[in-house]
Amino acid sequence: MNSGEELEYPHILIQYQNGFLISKVMFAACELGIFDLLKQSEENLSSKIIAERLGSSLHGMERLLDACVGLKLLSVEVKQEGDSYGIHTDALLIVSAFVLHTNCKITNISEDREGKNQYERAFGISPKDVFEALYRSEEEMTLFIHGLNAVWRICGRDVITAFDLSPFMVIYDLGGGGGALAQECISQYPNCQVTIFDLPKVVETTKKHFVSSEEQRITFHEGDFFKDPIPEADLYILARILHDWADEKCVHLLKKVQDVCKPGGGVLLVESLLNEDKSGPLESQLYSLNMLVQTEGKERTPTEYSNLLTAAGFKEVEIKKTGKLYDAILGRK
Ligand SMILES: C[S@@+](CC[C@H](N)C(=O)[O-])C[C@H]1O[C@@H](n2cnc3c(N)ncnc32)[C@H](O)[C@@H]1O
Repeated sequence: MNSGEELEYPHILIQYQNGFLISKVMFAACELGIFDLLKQSEENLSSKIIAERLGSSLHGMERLLDACVGLKLLSVEVKQEGDSYGIHTDALLIVSAFVLHTNCKITNISEDREGKNQYERAFGISPKDVFEALYRSEEEMTLFIHGLNAVWRICGRDVITAFDLSPFMVIYDLGGGGGALAQECISQYPNCQVTIFDLPKVVETTKKHFVSSEEQRITFHEGDFFKDPIPEADLYILARILHDWADEKCVHLLKKVQDVCKPGGGVLLVESLLNEDKSGPLESQLYSLNMLVQTEGKERTPTEYSNLLTAAGFKEVEIKKTGKLYDAILGRK
């Protein structure tokens, strides 16, 4: 999907939800003074210089600038020596008006000058404990899982049918959460067996609230995919998993998966892909900022995911952009 292009119903409902993030990006960019800085400098500036002058972390600033590009507030020139950002004249009028007419105290994003996620800032908890923080109460966990599942009720079929998964019989959905994608998988491929592998607390909650015990073809495995052994299977689905983690942890997890994957088997990554040239899609840029605020991860380009898979020993990496909100990447052992 290109920035600004309208999605069909019901995908458009998710786009409405992103309206909140769009406002946050505009507020954050205004409050940090990005537009003022670019206006005063009268020339395009690199993300490094902008971050330095505004006293922010480089990786956080890069993501905010990219989201502003997706929103067509800024332009970007991708150069070998570093990307360079400029402001669109028309956007200047809008953002000035936006600041003048709003007087809100925000935002998580602009407060994030040190590149810390919200749990580190609020509770001093390190990124490795992000899910621990998120799962403080069953109520919060249930709400989170409910939100995760809702997306797959809308987009699940797009990603599960992006590749023909029928040759894969034994499938593990690592970090499978509330099971909506596993359910879509068995409804599209009735001969497969899917196991949801997730933290014990999540498995317990999913069994209690989300997946009925009559669903014979979904089984559960409680564990920590970083610490515990991962069982052998034909296919591993990692949907919205790698975007939670920094590159080193992604490669560590993918290597574990590669070790136990059956010969001829593979791994299916389901993520929201960024364009290689930083032009969008806006949704992925917004999700990447959300990852900055919530986790240690980020959204990535097809090349970045291919590099992670190759580093872990996977071959024949294929990318399928669905044209919707989430895309699919298949790597083979
Ligand atoms: C962003 S959610 C994605 C859930 C699901 N795959 C989806 O797309 O709806 C990340 C999932 O990874 C799980 N998770 C996080 N850390 C984990 C770990 N160390 N071991 C197993 N699962 C983990 C979380 O509990 C959560 O269900």
